[in-house]
Amino acid sequence: KKVVLAYSGGLDTSVIAKWISETYNCEVVTFTADLGQGEEVEPARAKAQALGIKEIYIEDLREEFVRDYVFPMFRANTIYEGEYLLGTSIARPLIAKRLVEIANETGADAISHGATGKGNDQVRFELGAYALKPGVKVIAPWREWDLNSREKLMAYCEDHNIPVDFNKKGKKSPYSMDANLLHISYEGGILEDPWAEAEEEMWRWSVSPETAPDQPTYLELTYEKGDIVAIDGKPMTPAEVLTYLNKVGGDNGIGRLDIVENRYVGMKSRGCYETPGGTIMLKAHRAIESITLDREVAHLKDELMPKYAEVIYNGYWWSPERRMLQEMIDASQETVNGKVRLKLYKGNVIVAGRQSDDSLFDESIATFEDDAGAYDQKDAEGFIKLNALRMRIAASKGRSPLK
Ligand code: ARG
Ligand code: SIN
Repeated sequence: KKVVLAYSGGLDTSVIAKWISETYNCEVVTFTADLGQGEEVEPARAKAQALGIKEIYIEDLREEFVRDYVFPMFRANTIYEGEYLLGTSIARPLIAKRLVEIANETGADAISHGATGKGNDQVRFELGAYALKPGVKVIAPWREWDLNSREKLMAYCEDHNIPVDFNKKGKKSPYSMDANLLHISYEGGILEDPWAEAEEEMWRWSVSPETAPDQPTYLELTYEKGDIVAIDGKPMTPAEVLTYLNKVGGDNGIGRLDIVENRYVGMKSRGCYETPGGTIMLKAHRAIESITLDREVAHLKDELMPKYAEVIYNGYWWSPERRMLQEMIDASQETVNGKVRLKLYKGNVIVAGRQSDDSLFDESIATFEDDAGAYDQKDAEGFIKLNALRMRIAASKGRSPLK
């Protein structure tokens, strides 16, 4: 019997590794991924070795993460509950997929993770694992053990010779955090009071809009089929694009968010997020779509978007409905090519221009000047009258909208 564990190298998942091998008397395979969280992943090797782990997987998944998960999601202009850019939600399906693939490679029959029984992450990991490996067993220590306090966890470390400096950088952040190339999230601590403002020191990726530069930064993004392929004329890979936009966005105070959201398990939860690159991408993508998409296609996408966001938030990336929606979204992006020019200034992303060979914008028709017969204004009379017909009939039969 063997278990593949999503292992961060931190204290909690180190305790989990030990606890699983003891409780289930089985081998543990660790899997640590670089998703752009901004911390070295290589140190996880020595830590896993110290725990007696024999099979250790450490992988750089940054390109795959942005290319196959983040970019497809941004093609739909996805936001959950009007605000959240789904930074954590979109990383879980990739981790679930690798857990299952590593289980298949190593002959393991179970997977495990360090998510609590109160959150969304457990759902996302496990729905993904079941969808990809129907017979897989799941071990979720936070739902099973009684190490529910910091003291009990520390005592367990003491008893099992787990060095407490396994805690990242030796000092515990007051927040529950999760980071990858798309975002960094903060929950818990003083944030559990929705009235309490986050302290300035909490934010790690962005300066405050107040202290951002007085000079704006201009950016030119090149799109192909809905994805950014170059910045300021320089071709970049998906992970390079997001890394670059996080930097310039953070430097200009862009992408801070403070919300109370509805978790899938039923509770409300307060979270703060920094998503500088994602905030830029959302604005820019809408700008390039504004000239390259047909009106009805654009509006239909916008109707489907909240559903697509919910599918991702709730953990159904590997579901048939997500694939169906993705095919529709991707089909709409064939013509989403061209350039967007942006101005970044003190927390704002301002569109300065958009341009495309696939543009549907017709200056000769839209102009306020003489259009030389391109559009006959007389046509509008019948258009309006027929659209008004049902309201005229109703009013003539005494159904006035005023009473
Ligand atoms: N509330 C956000 C979400 O559900 C962020 C979760 C952060 N996860 C974490 N393990 N700290 O997507
Ligand atoms: C957790 O409970 O592990 C983090 C929060 C979440 O998954 O929503």
